[in-house]
Amino acid sequence: MIGGQKKCIGLIFGGNSNEHEVSISSAKTVFQAFNSETNKKRYTVKPFYINKYGDWLDSNLSEKILIGDIGNNKAKKQKIVNQEKINFLDGIQFQNVDVWFPLLHGLNGEDGSIHGLLRFTKKPCVGCGIIGSALGMDKILMKTIFSNLKFPQVNYLVFQNEDLNDKQIKNKIINEILKKLKFPIFVKPSNSGSSLGISKVKNESEILQALEKARGIDPRILIEEGLEVREIECGIIGNSKLLTSEIGEVNYESDWYDYDSKYHSNNKIIIPAEIDSKITKEIKEIAIKSCRALNIFGFARVDFFLEKSSNKILLNEINTIPGFTKNSMFPMLWEASGLKIEQLVAKLVDISLDL
Ligand SMILES: Nc1ncnc2c1ncn2[C@@H]1O[C@H](COP(=O)(O)OP(=O)(O)O)[C@@H](O)[C@H]1O
Ligand SMILES: [Mg+2]
Repeated sequence: MIGGQKKCIGLIFGGNSNEHEVSISSAKTVFQAFNSETNKKRYTVKPFYINKYGDWLDSNLSEKILIGDIGNNKAKKQKIVNQEKINFLDGIQFQNVDVWFPLLHGLNGEDGSIHGLLRFTKKPCVGCGIIGSALGMDKILMKTIFSNLKFPQVNYLVFQNEDLNDKQIKNKIINEILKKLKFPIFVKPSNSGSSLGISKVKNESEILQALEKARGIDPRILIEEGLEVREIECGIIGNSKLLTSEIGEVNYESDWYDYDSKYHSNNKIIIPAEIDSKITKEIKEIAIKSCRALNIFGFARVDFFLEKSSNKILLNEINTIPGFTKNSMFPMLWEASGLKIEQLVAKLVDISLDL
């Protein structure tokens, strides 16, 4: 920094979410990137780990998790404050943080809750605000807005807060699915992530179990027609001007991109995706328009399906805190677009400061 002080980045990770472990991996990558030769001269990092119970740990302990000194198993048992206490941030030193970098994937973080909390600190934050985060997390509301704007999507149905123990309601739901959608179908909790709670259902007999599974995470359920698709992803960064990265494709060996195939297998990532330039252009346009529609800025990963039989583009979802693990698409997309991870994290801070 020319004549200035180093900026202190408040890196928040972990979280009371079923994507807790993914968040730790993401934070490790970002922490390392801020500690690169060049970035060390510009930034210090103050990490804040939130354990699975939602308790915040101080920066010393949090840093130990990032550098692998203590496993998160040990740390997550450590409660800084009694959970019944309302001042759950007691002992957490927020002072000195110049810019927040929340890397909480999933519920209780990516859904806008962390953005709401951080707003009270009056410090800038990497990523978008409360509305964009909440909408990006909620598949039903996201799809409703996309439908309204006539963005191309798969056919879907929504069931909210239905009583699955009521036989009549159960039958009504099943009949509607049979009438309106073709198998296979995907049954999804409206709010989740990393494919958790999602089932691919091949026939009527499997519907109920899939509904119960989704309902275990969120009583608001989305049901989509399942197509044979290629999975295409596009990175977004920026504020008033949104930039798109190269387009990437992920190939996996499993039947669909479930949790295990996302994080535990050797997926093949192809950047740039082998698709023709007209489709690439269209995908980038829809990526920007869809972020604008939900008030998403800062950074995001927009995911698409490309139907194999027709080459039709279908907008799937927007992730407002995309994964930053070693196998994650988002940093790879930007590296292929000319921004190494060290440059990417610095750029995201600049964007949050509107530089
Ligand atoms: N309608 C669909 N047709 C085909 N595959 C689907 C469909 N919906 C979901 N999938 C598969 O399930 C994966 C996870 O679904 P997604 O809606 O992206 O949930 P998550 O937010 O958990 O990533 C997708 O990447 C894809 O492999
Ligand atoms: Mg997805």
